[in-house]
Amino acid sequence: MTQGIRRTAAANTAAIVILCFSLLVIHLPGSAALAAGAFEPDRIILNLTETPATSMAVTWRTAGKIKDPKAQIAVALASPALDEKAWTVDAVTESVTLETGKTVSAHSVVFQSLQPETVYVYRVGGNDVWSEWNQFRTASAAPKPFRFLYFGDPQNDILSKCSRVFREAYRRAPDAAFWQFVGDIVNNGENDSEWGEFYGAVGWAPRATPFMLLPGNHEYKKNPAPLAGGNGGEQKGLSRYWRPQFTFPLNGPAGLEESAYYFDYQGVRFIMLNGTEKIEEQARWIKKVLSNNPQRWTIVGIHQPFYSTGQDRDNIYHQKLFTPLFDKYGVDLVLQGHDHTYGRTHKVRNGKKQDINARGTVYVVTVTGPKQYKPSALYEKLMAKTGTQTQLYQVISVDTNKLTYESYTVTGELFDSFVLEKK
Ligand SMILES: [Fe+2]
Ligand SMILES: [Fe+2]
Repeated sequence: MTQGIRRTAAANTAAIVILCFSLLVIHLPGSAALAAGAFEPDRIILNLTETPATSMAVTWRTAGKIKDPKAQIAVALASPALDEKAWTVDAVTESVTLETGKTVSAHSVVFQSLQPETVYVYRVGGNDVWSEWNQFRTASAAPKPFRFLYFGDPQNDILSKCSRVFREAYRRAPDAAFWQFVGDIVNNGENDSEWGEFYGAVGWAPRATPFMLLPGNHEYKKNPAPLAGGNGGEQKGLSRYWRPQFTFPLNGPAGLEESAYYFDYQGVRFIMLNGTEKIEEQARWIKKVLSNNPQRWTIVGIHQPFYSTGQDRDNIYHQKLFTPLFDKYGVDLVLQGHDHTYGRTHKVRNGKKQDINARGTVYVVTVTGPKQYKPSALYEKLMAKTGTQTQLYQVISVDTNKLTYESYTVTGELFDSFVLEKK
């Protein structure tokens, strides 16, 4: 009994010590950072809107729930007194349940009423935890020369073997207006850690330069049944992570919000297609987008290529639906992935090779990541350049009358190039 009382007293003393220590820890400066970890903005990514001269979208995520998710923005100053000039925009938030069962919060803001060709500084946060201040530049409201980067499938060993491609691309074109991806960003779109690898591989680039992405078949939940009439169909719905982690224009066909859309950038209409589902709907939609196009240049992005470059592959269904429209409305360039090889056609019209000065569309397949397929000879008569076992990135520059395309190996050699001219 006595011993028992002694034990109780000792336990009480221990409890008081633990309580005091806990209070002390809670008030230590370092513990604020620990608590803040859950509110730390992560996976911050800029996306272009339909009006890139006057608005910009940013999306990020936090492990914990935020009471007041928001972003701040100001015209960038050389002075560090950024807080004084910034205005605050409330974020839209949604909960995302990871495949592990854990729930995180995805936040987004669209900055509106911006000035064209202006550098802005912004940060994102909430619960008194902020990201760093990042800068981006709005587009010109009128046609003006610019360049952008184009990447094929990263997909595998994203952190280990794709990081160097992104870094070399940035080194060559640090002023790229945006980075264009054409799907199979990851191998399993439902695996959150693969998306984490992607953000690790691109580092701070998407915080300063908008990323434009469209989904590949690997961003779809896996289903062994192939897409009716087409190649590359791992249907059963877009990855749960696609829409929460990006903020793309909502101008695509119904049911394909943020996976098929278009935007105009300084004289170029960019049309992003989702090659994995609702193909006929997109053919009807793109006809309207192409027939009502005031831009001088037109570039289409899609994951599954119209003229396959990978062995034993042919997307004839896609080809028959879309290429006559590209012929009719004069699409200049089509950016594709999926076949894990390189293949760039001559100008093509009615399925046939055209002279460089004739009307026609150039179709490109390229690859960023380490997965590389055997090439196909199926469309070799159309091809101007093919290759495989080569990690690549592309710099595309557009001027009023001239489009210059350059493909570089990750080690810096010019792998392919061509020029398109308009009179
Ligand atoms: Fe792929
Ligand atoms: Fe693919």
